[in-house]
Amino acid sequence: MSKYQFQQSDIYQPGTDLPINRLDIGDAEILHEIEAQLLLQAYETFVLELVAETRFDEAYFQSLHQRTFDSLYGWAGQYRTQDMVKGSSMFCRAAFLPNEAQRIFKELEKEDYLRGAALWPRERFADRLAYFQSELIALHPFYELNGRITRLFFDLITIHNGYGPIDYGLALRDDPEVDNNYIRASIDCVQRADHALLRELVLAGLSSSESES
Ligand SMILES: Nc1ncnc2c1ncn2[C@@H]1O[C@H](COP(=O)(O)OP(=O)(O)OP(=O)(O)O)[C@@H](O)[C@H]1O
Ligand SMILES: [Mg+2]
Repeated sequence: MSKYQFQQSDIYQPGTDLPINRLDIGDAEILHEIEAQLLLQAYETFVLELVAETRFDEAYFQSLHQRTFDSLYGWAGQYRTQDMVKGSSMFCRAAFLPNEAQRIFKELEKEDYLRGAALWPRERFADRLAYFQSELIALHPFYELNGRITRLFFDLITIHNGYGPIDYGLALRDDPEVDNNYIRASIDCVQRADHALLRELVLAGLSSSESES
């Protein structure tokens, strides 16, 4: 990965929220479709690469972003160097981001990357997973694609433990009728360090691999 630090102005096409991309695509729908394809391929690739020894560490997390989106974005896998806000939430200050990321992944390492969770009650797994997910949601380390890469990361952990990927169901829909949605849960994570709502979503979405789905 290069040492070059990307500024926000290097990321977006002027006057839009569309990222500058290697294919020079200026059409939002086409870009989103390509992102969706790349993410789908990434699920296949990374699930196939899982082995008992896989360490879900910081390098692994960054490599998910890098390898999934490198063909499209020059900043894939690079942490942001500017502060970022969504709605009324401010994510981790860019100045603290590298240390904060290290702290989170050190904690995750202490819990052996949740690799023992196949033997735990589902509630305990959901709680620890939602806790670490809430920390990464508040970190928001990349300029874009944080939600998808964070969910991919935790899906790989659930799959490693013999579960299927987490089914967030309606919570991921952009639907104001659904009130316990992923964004509301994220707001609690970022603004109150509270992962209770997210834990509910995770617990509801954990299913035991192919056999039950
Ligand atoms: N108002 C908010 N407050 C707190 N967190 C938020 C807010 N809006 C979005 N988020 C978090 O930011 C993530 C979106 O980040 P980003 O746009 O970088 O990734 P994405 O992959 O495009 O997102 P997604 O697919 O989840 O919409 C969401 O998944 C959520 O966790
Ligand atoms: Mg986005």
